[in-house]
Amino acid sequence: MSKVTTLHEFIMDRQADFPFASGELSRLLNDIAVASKVVSKDVRRAGLLENFLGAQGSTNIQGEEQQKLDVIADNQFINMFKAGGEVCGIASEENDDFMAFDSEFSKNGKYVVLFDPLDGSSNIDVNVSIGTIFSIYRRKSDIGSLATMEDMLQMGQEQIAAGYVLYGSSTMLVYTTGRGVNGFTLDPSIGEFCLSHPDMKMPETGRMYAMNEGNINICEEGIKEYIETYCQQTQPGHARPYSGRYIGSLVADFHRNLIKGGIYIYPDTSVDPEGKLRLLYECNPLAFIAEQAGGLATDGRNRIMSISPGRLHQRVPFFIGSKKMVEQAMSFLK
Ligand code: AHG
Ligand code: MN
Ligand code: MN
Repeated sequence: MSKVTTLHEFIMDRQADFPFASGELSRLLNDIAVASKVVSKDVRRAGLLENFLGAQGSTNIQGEEQQKLDVIADNQFINMFKAGGEVCGIASEENDDFMAFDSEFSKNGKYVVLFDPLDGSSNIDVNVSIGTIFSIYRRKSDIGSLATMEDMLQMGQEQIAAGYVLYGSSTMLVYTTGRGVNGFTLDPSIGEFCLSHPDMKMPETGRMYAMNEGNINICEEGIKEYIETYCQQTQPGHARPYSGRYIGSLVADFHRNLIKGGIYIYPDTSVDPEGKLRLLYECNPLAFIAEQAGGLATDGRNRIMSISPGRLHQRVPFFIGSKKMVEQAMSFLK
C-alpha cells in the first residue's frame, strides 16, 4: 500500500509556501477539519438522534427557516474558532451580525472566517448531500482589537484560503490557499482526511448544466434563451443535448462540476432580484476554488471575486463552472 498523506501532514508540508506565516493559518485549517469531522458525524447519524432533524422553529435574517442541523453546525464551528485563537471574528449565514470574539486570546487572532455552516438545508431531512463552505481573510483591523465590519467586507480576491466540506456519499474536504486545489476524503476507519484528489483541475468544458428550472419564466430572457436554445439542443459533434443535473445543494452541484465539468447557474429572478446565493460565504469561496482549478465564476457580467461587498448577507446572481461554459452562458446576456 502506498503512503497515505493526511490533511494534517499536507497542511504542515505546505506551510513553507507562506514565507511570513507563523503557523496560525495551518492551525486554523486543522481546526476547520476537526469541526467538520464532528459535523460529519452528526450528519451521518442525524436520523437516529433526537433533536437533529427538522426545523428549529426560527428564521434567519434572510427570512429562511433554520433547520436544527444548521444551528448545530453553526455552533460547532463558532466554538472551534473561539477556542482556537487564530480567529478574531466570524460571520455566518445563521447570524444576523458578525461576531467579534472578545477574549484577549481571540483579539490577537489574525484571521476572520465567513462561512455557510450547512449548505443545502432543504436536503438535510431527505438524506441528500449537503456541505459547509468557508472563506478566510487576514483582518484589516489592528491585532489586539475587536474585529470590525471592514474585516468582513473584503473583496473575494483578498481571500487567503477557502474551501468546502461535502457530506456526500463520502465526506470530502476541498480547499485552496491560492496554490491550486486539493481534495481529501475522510477515512472513517481512522478518522482522518486523506489526500485523494491532488491538484484538482476543472475540465475546460463539460456536458452538464445545473439550474433550478422552476425559475425559468421569472428570470431574464437571455437565460431562458441559453437554456432552451443551447443547453437543451443537440450541438454539432454530440448525440444528445446537455444533461440537466440539479441537486439543490450548491456545494454538491459545484463539486460534481469541478470533477466532471459543467456549469451551475443561479440568476437573479423577479422573486430574488439580486439572485439567491450569498456573495461572502457561498459565492466568493467557491469562486476562489473554481479559478484556482482553471474554472470561472461571474455574476453573469463581472468576476465574482472583484465585487466590492456592501453588506454581510449580500446576494448576487451566480454563474460558476467550466470556463468555456460560463463564457458561453454569459454571451447570451445583454
Ligand atoms: P442554504 O441551504 O445554505 O440556505 O443554501 C441553499 C442554496 C444552495 O445550496 C442551493 O443551490 C440553492 O439554495 C437552492 O435554491 P432553490 O431551492 O431556490 O433551487
Ligand atoms: Mn448555502
Ligand atoms: Mn446554509
